[in-house]
Amino acid sequence: MSKLWGGRFTKQTDELVEQYTASISFDKALAEEDIQGSLAHVTMLGKCGILPSQDVDQIKQGLLQVLELIRTGEMEYSVSDEDIHMNIEKKLIELVGPVGGKLHTGRSRNDQVATDMHLYLRKHVISFVELLGKLQEALIEQAKANKDTIVPGYTHLQRAQPILFAHHLMAYVSMFERDIERLKDSYKRINTLPLGAGALAGTTFPIDRHFVAEQLGFERVYENSLDAVSDRDFIVEFLSNASMMMMHLSRLCEELVLWSSTEFQFVELDDAFCTGSSIMPQKKNPDVAELVRGKTGRVYGNLVGMLTVLKSLPLAYNKDMQEDKEGMLDTVATLDGALRLFAPMISTMKVNKERMRQAVRQDFSNATDIADFLVNKGLPFRQAHEVIGKTVLYCIQRGVYLLDLTLDEFKQFSPLFDESIYDVLQPEQVVNARNVYGGTAAPQVEGAIQRAAGALSDT
Ligand code: ARG
Repeated sequence: MSKLWGGRFTKQTDELVEQYTASISFDKALAEEDIQGSLAHVTMLGKCGILPSQDVDQIKQGLLQVLELIRTGEMEYSVSDEDIHMNIEKKLIELVGPVGGKLHTGRSRNDQVATDMHLYLRKHVISFVELLGKLQEALIEQAKANKDTIVPGYTHLQRAQPILFAHHLMAYVSMFERDIERLKDSYKRINTLPLGAGALAGTTFPIDRHFVAEQLGFERVYENSLDAVSDRDFIVEFLSNASMMMMHLSRLCEELVLWSSTEFQFVELDDAFCTGSSIMPQKKNPDVAELVRGKTGRVYGNLVGMLTVLKSLPLAYNKDMQEDKEGMLDTVATLDGALRLFAPMISTMKVNKERMRQAVRQDFSNATDIADFLVNKGLPFRQAHEVIGKTVLYCIQRGVYLLDLTLDEFKQFSPLFDESIYDVLQPEQVVNARNVYGGTAAPQVEGAIQRAAGALSDT
């Protein structure tokens, strides 16, 4: 089997070396992008008079034939052709003859592979923005259906203050909004063309990089040829954004796992999104949520792996950089799967409003509000805090809640208490009292839902 680069060699490559250095087993995922890049490149070679138009036409025909083989699954890849770029070029030459060997004029695999990676990530970043939008939509729908569902809000996983369940869900909408912003910002850097940088220094052929950029829809070209072939920042950035998204998803996962436990019973995930136990017939496990939570670890690992590969790498291309692919491909697949599952899992989730309502009646999450009540009567907040702390302790010792106390009992703690305390302590009142922009009061949450829904329909 002759190598495309075999001229300078007197021996065959050791078989183990061939297997160890080949990337075809995973970089075949870039096949479509590789052909897309090559089509643009060869068109430019024709336009610039570097190749005659009949050669360009033959090469394009051949590339389209290879694309067809790839799409129908008939393309055969070989490890001895190392990677996707050489597998495609070899096949092209096989199909159209020696003219196929002209495709690589003025190009190196170094700027070629970087271009493929940019094209591949660009496609997926666009898709992730859409998928995040769908997830936000599902959360907003649930928020709309739970505009008056009151649930305990937690800090330290201890009951803190009651909030609207809609408010809790909308917090995730904000988190995913930041993820969308980050993806959109990274797009500028992803949408930059490396092709034309050659191996590292540019090329002796009178190519037109801007023409290639235009054909491929890139906003700009890399300024510096060394940077173009050695830059993998855009992959690190993607892996970092992906890690952040997975981190957000994992927090929601954790809440879904907790909320669907017998201890909470706040929500019930649809049967279609849960699995059973092979031994315990009663079990319904929130596997999807658990697995997304778990896979977050691998996505973080891919980020750290990439950063570590790049650490101290001298310019320009080094074979180490072939290691940019598996983690990136794995992250794309993991995130894609998680986002596709999440939106329907949220839409089909049943919310146990009654259980949530009961929960806020059996806790002290209205304690801040009686402290605020005393402050409004003129007591300094620190003193009010102390008084209510004692009142809560009194309740705990008797196994009752604040609303169970008589007015006389309240008055033992402060003469400032009066009948109106019973209204102040109602969970609805507690929620609606927080009528500050971004707060949990119903009108604020309504506004937040409307703004988020409006922003979604604008995009
Ligand atoms: N398979 C290689 C990679 O993914 C392609 C670039 C190889 N370039 C080279 N000069 N060996 O990084």
